[in-house]
Amino acid sequence: MSDLQFRCVQSDDATLLADIHTQCFAKPWGEAAMASLLVNGTIGWIASMEKKDVGLALIRLAADEAELLSLATIPSARCKGAGRSLLKTVCQQAKLAGAQQMFLEVRSDNAPAVHIYERAGFTRIGSRENYYANHVDAVTFMRPLI
Ligand SMILES: CC(C)(COP(=O)(O)OP(=O)(O)OC[C@H]1O[C@@H](n2cnc3c(N)ncnc32)[C@H](O)[C@@H]1OP(=O)(O)O)[C@@H](O)C(=O)NCCC(=O)NCCS
Repeated sequence: MSDLQFRCVQSDDATLLADIHTQCFAKPWGEAAMASLLVNGTIGWIASMEKKDVGLALIRLAADEAELLSLATIPSARCKGAGRSLLKTVCQQAKLAGAQQMFLEVRSDNAPAVHIYERAGFTRIGSRENYYANHVDAVTFMRPLI
């Protein structure tokens, strides 16, 4: 793992978050969507490597539950531990904030994401058949934080 650092998302990070998202998803969340999330209680962390911002994790807390809204590492920085470390960071921070469980949803065909979620101790608790285009299911994962 090379020079991986993390910082909390700030209220003026919407442009950066949208830029990372655009590099990672076919249907990215734009700057306005990110700004809206940030004023509505979403919290997050940005990973950097060698002073370059390379990844994000966004979560929402409600009562004693946390939901992972998005996790992404830009293509050039993948498979260097950023995604796994971001996931560990958001689980730790959610636990510190009082959450007892972390939930997330992911495409069943997203092999790298499913791999890091299972490796981090998440278990499948449900699925929604044909939730995405081309008959791809959505899988819900949960991890206790205690
Ligand atoms: C999922 C994602 C965040 C992982 O980020 P990352 O920084 O590469 O993650 P890490 O380097 O910590 O770990 C990647 C793991 O995936 C594994 N991996 C890579 N390609 C894989 C594949 N095709 N099938 C299974 N595992 C795979 C790597 O071996 C590594 O696991 P290991 O550490 O046990 O060897 C990144 O691929 C990404 O941004 N994808 C696009 C956005 C996305 O799909 N986000 C998740 C939506 S819920």
